[in-house]
Amino acid sequence: MNLSTLFHTSNPLLLPLHSIPSTRSQAVLARFSVGGDVAIEGKNLNFSITTKQGKLAPILQDCSLRIPSGQLWMLLGPNGCGKSTLLKILAGLLNPTSGTLSVKRPRSFVFQNPDHQVVMPTVEADVAFGLGKFNLTDDEVRSRVSKALDAVGMVNYIKRPVQTLSGGQKQRVAIAGALAEACKVLLLDELTTFLDEKDQFGVIKAVKNSLSASGEITALWVTHRLEELEFADGAFYMENGRIVKQGGGASIMGFIRARQSSYINQINS
Ligand SMILES: Nc1ncnc2c1ncn2[C@@H]1O[C@H](COP(=O)(O)OP(=O)(O)O)[C@@H](O)[C@H]1O
Ligand SMILES: [Mg+2]
Repeated sequence: MNLSTLFHTSNPLLLPLHSIPSTRSQAVLARFSVGGDVAIEGKNLNFSITTKQGKLAPILQDCSLRIPSGQLWMLLGPNGCGKSTLLKILAGLLNPTSGTLSVKRPRSFVFQNPDHQVVMPTVEADVAFGLGKFNLTDDEVRSRVSKALDAVGMVNYIKRPVQTLSGGQKQRVAIAGALAEACKVLLLDELTTFLDEKDQFGVIKAVKNSLSASGEITALWVTHRLEELEFADGAFYMENGRIVKQGGGASIMGFIRARQSSYINQINS
């Protein structure tokens, strides 16, 4: 079941790279730091924009969330409810209007459109792309690249030109780029929206496997696809800029199904 079929389309702000400079949003992140086994903690996050008429329009209202280290959490909700905005705030790509935030670093953001983030001609070069800043030896680069590709099940594609890959394989290469940079937090925005079922499960299993292989990576996965909740350690459901429900995957699935049937009953009555 795809929630986007029930609600209006969003206008996501797509940005080109999965790798986020750690200097962004330093002021916000400095307000407090997350303790040992919490990777993401936001308290009372608000985000507003100023409209053309000069009015303040709230996009996020009082969002609080806490995600333990090493877990895969999911974020669901109708189009336009604020999922991407919240994810961009957690990534440091946007500053909240108010509230406090702490996210383990380095953190990486992977965007919905795979073609917006694979930038080099081959798989190997793309995964190595972000490693230039670390001053590593060639052997260290090779080792990081092959370990990261192994975690996402793409090591056999190391020499492949990226344009020969499927959308899901490109997403896995983008995730490998983040893993090679030793990211602690993966922020994944609707990676599976344009993928067929095989690619969809390939990507989610790659994320799950990356988390269990490392033990210290945490992921927040935004999705429309309810069936993915079975892979979640926990999930949030948003509506109108607020987190209205938090729980285990099965309980969030039940909550959304109930919401959908009440919506369908409403339009049929
Ligand atoms: N920079 C912006 N300017 C104007 N409106 C925005 C901006 N960013 C987000 N929005 C609006 O905020 C709401 C939430 O957007 P978004 O976070 O992309 O939702 P979602 O990812 O859940 O579909 C939408 O109504 C969107 O149009
Ligand atoms: Mg979005």
